[in-house]
Amino acid sequence: MTQPTDPTNQTVTKNQAAATHTDHVEADLHDAVAQGSRLLDPGMSLTLRPMRYPQFYEMFRDAIKNTWTVEEIDLHSDLSDLHTKLTPAERHLVSRLVAFFATGDTIVANNLVLNLYQHVNSPEARLYLSRQLFEEGVHIQFYLTLLDTYVPDEAERFEAFAAVENIPSIRKKAEFCFRWIDSIQDLDRLETKEQRRQFLLNLICFGTCIEGLFFYGAFAYVYFLRSRGLLNGLASGTNWVFRDESMHMAFAFEVVETVRTEEPDLFDAEMAGQVRQMLMEAVDAEAQFAEDLLGGGVAGLSVADMRAYLENVADRRAVQLGMPEIYGTKNPLAFMELQDVQELSNFFERRVSAYQVGVEGSVSFDEDF
Ligand SMILES: [Fe+2]
Ligand SMILES: [Fe+2]
Repeated sequence: MTQPTDPTNQTVTKNQAAATHTDHVEADLHDAVAQGSRLLDPGMSLTLRPMRYPQFYEMFRDAIKNTWTVEEIDLHSDLSDLHTKLTPAERHLVSRLVAFFATGDTIVANNLVLNLYQHVNSPEARLYLSRQLFEEGVHIQFYLTLLDTYVPDEAERFEAFAAVENIPSIRKKAEFCFRWIDSIQDLDRLETKEQRRQFLLNLICFGTCIEGLFFYGAFAYVYFLRSRGLLNGLASGTNWVFRDESMHMAFAFEVVETVRTEEPDLFDAEMAGQVRQMLMEAVDAEAQFAEDLLGGGVAGLSVADMRAYLENVADRRAVQLGMPEIYGTKNPLAFMELQDVQELSNFFERRVSAYQVGVEGSVSFDEDF
């Protein structure tokens, strides 16, 4: 007598169920290769040869060349700056900055592993995301070390981690992040165009608004202080983080471009409007943070300049996404012009030997960067 092969049938044997499941997996794999599945099609593709997305694999290899460790960063010279050189207003700026750093990268890491990894169906891209997760871990360690070094008082350290709840300008930024995490938390599979658009908005939010704008805002304060000869330890660690974040953003743009090539109709006018709105909300949240940081009057950096810088960054992100500028604002911060040129040119031109010595953890930071 022939046994039923329907896996939902209660009388099916274990072996037959396993065989049926294997048949389905093989059929799915065969279909994926034959039909050319797309990046956001649900699944766990395992095929690295033939390689469908070599651009993500190359990004994974590039990221490994940029390996660094927190132990290479010497923060101790910063302590005398903190105690003897900084004004009370500058100290307030630094304490707010540290409070933001305390939780910022953890939020990014959580979204990465809970949302992005699940839906970007390419083993090459998942390789990159696994590397990015490692880098976010190093950033979290760096900021924890920074906090422990700068803030000796235990109660103040606890407060820094509570800032995400207690300090309105930091809470506003966290709420912005959580809203976009929550928007796709219940999506197990990206079946419909609407679900794929939701996913893309999350990816764009994290790549351009959080890593590409909130973090760039934070870097600007660090490089402002460095331009005045202050907190060079923080700046040297930030150089490494800056390069990592530039890569994370480049990866997000690459995913967006790949999806745009495969499914151009996802990028309609409504989504462009949502991205524009999202960028403007991010600028407003970061500008409120600037008012908090600079409200005490930090000589040489005004709230207006900071807002203009953020608008300029948002314009660049819009253009990188193939959209028109939103504000048309020039960058007033000369010390960031230099940094942004380095972002574009130095990253890929950096000598391989410098990276490789860096991997061994026995080199001081290349000050040219
Ligand atoms: Fe990070
Ligand atoms: Fe990142």
